[in-house]
Amino acid sequence: MANDTSAVLDPVSPHSLADPFTPPADSSLWRKNFLLGAATAAYQIEGAIHEDGRLPSIWDTFSATPGKVLAGDTGAVACDHYHRWEADVDLLAGLGLEGYRLSIAWPRVMDAAGTPNRKGIDFYKRLLARLKEKGITTFVTLYHWDLPQHLEDRGGWLNRDTAYRFADYADLMSRELAGSVDAWGTLNEPWCSAYLGYGNGHHAPGLANGRFATQAMHHLLLAHGLAVPVLRANDPRSQKGIVANIGRGTANSDSAADQRAAHLFEVQHNAWVLDPLLKGEYPQDLFELWPGTEPLVLDGDMKTISAPLDFLGINYYFRTNVASDGAHGFKEVPLEGVERTQMGWEVHPDGLRDLLTGFKDTYANLPPIYITENGMASDDQLSDGKVDDSQRISFLKRHLAAVDEAITAGVEIRGYFLWSLMDNFEWAFGYERRFGIVHVDYATQKRTLKRSAELVAKFLKERGART
Ligand code: FCB
Repeated sequence: MANDTSAVLDPVSPHSLADPFTPPADSSLWRKNFLLGAATAAYQIEGAIHEDGRLPSIWDTFSATPGKVLAGDTGAVACDHYHRWEADVDLLAGLGLEGYRLSIAWPRVMDAAGTPNRKGIDFYKRLLARLKEKGITTFVTLYHWDLPQHLEDRGGWLNRDTAYRFADYADLMSRELAGSVDAWGTLNEPWCSAYLGYGNGHHAPGLANGRFATQAMHHLLLAHGLAVPVLRANDPRSQKGIVANIGRGTANSDSAADQRAAHLFEVQHNAWVLDPLLKGEYPQDLFELWPGTEPLVLDGDMKTISAPLDFLGINYYFRTNVASDGAHGFKEVPLEGVERTQMGWEVHPDGLRDLLTGFKDTYANLPPIYITENGMASDDQLSDGKVDDSQRISFLKRHLAAVDEAITAGVEIRGYFLWSLMDNFEWAFGYERRFGIVHVDYATQKRTLKRSAELVAKFLKERGART
């Protein structure tokens, strides 16, 4: 049995007795137009990497390389969502989630010559049709890190041509799927693609060179900027945006050097992506931090990159405490005695609020925001058919409260997608790190609601019943 939603509706479930999740009565999260959903990404859940003409991606290559992913895990099977998508949509709908953020696997839908792969495209058509039938609002990310390997073989994001190939891919998908997508996200977290993929090699394709990172970033942002008008032309009624991960950096002391270090941390994590998009320029402090890494920028690129957006997706996970490294940069100084998740990430909801209110002051043209990812990994265990993930429940509640505070402070935030609907392939950490509100037993592919899922469903039910 692939999905078990019975616990949601079971009034005698022991889990329904206490409710540590539901937001306070005056929270703006009770507003019915505040979209509450869940997110996933193709490579992390689909599996079926050799089926129906799908081509290899950089993550297939990377995860098959010994030593790159914990325990040698790969996305070859993942959550087998490619075969179980109907039951997974029922699971999502059964929880009452109103929004679903998914991604399309580029290597599934077109070949190296740009020829469409009908079977791959039809998979997404069926999935989106079913989501529509269930009344679920869809946010579709075009690029959640699974670059076709044939493009990497020609330089990947270091090759300017990849940006134009991305625009072709956006053109194909938006012609094929026009009318069935509510919001298009061009890229997920270009910071991770550029920095982890080309700057320190922790992610695919695994290259480590600072100059590569800034050039890859430029081509990623260019790809985004080239795709936006294409999406607008092909699918005018949908929203168009991009998803950025943001990080809070705080100073280890009041010293000017440490304050500067915290500033540089946020320049590197946030302004590197947001300034080009929202101001049409790279932050000059970035090149003080990384001297000599200025990317090659052609005339008109910054205008293309800063095309107006309908929404900005924000992914937030943790804060980093930093000090000056004694030279131009910063170094992490981990705080003792703070709450952390299975990833070792510090739980710091105020960081989300403070960053959001800060962006409102920094960017005059800040678009409406959706929190497109927020959540945590824990070492969740099934016991008597239940998973008590109390840290996650508390985490979600506190971060939703931080979102509410940012809304009260005047930031336009229209929705929140928790990461993730279900446990999945957590990139370099494989299957060990569980981020889902639904537990996945990878041996049987059985899905089991965690207590967090039950409580989110309970809240949504109560909210839905309000007049
Ligand atoms: C984000 C990714 C997402 C997931 C979470 C935990 O950086 O976008 O795919 O892995 O982290």
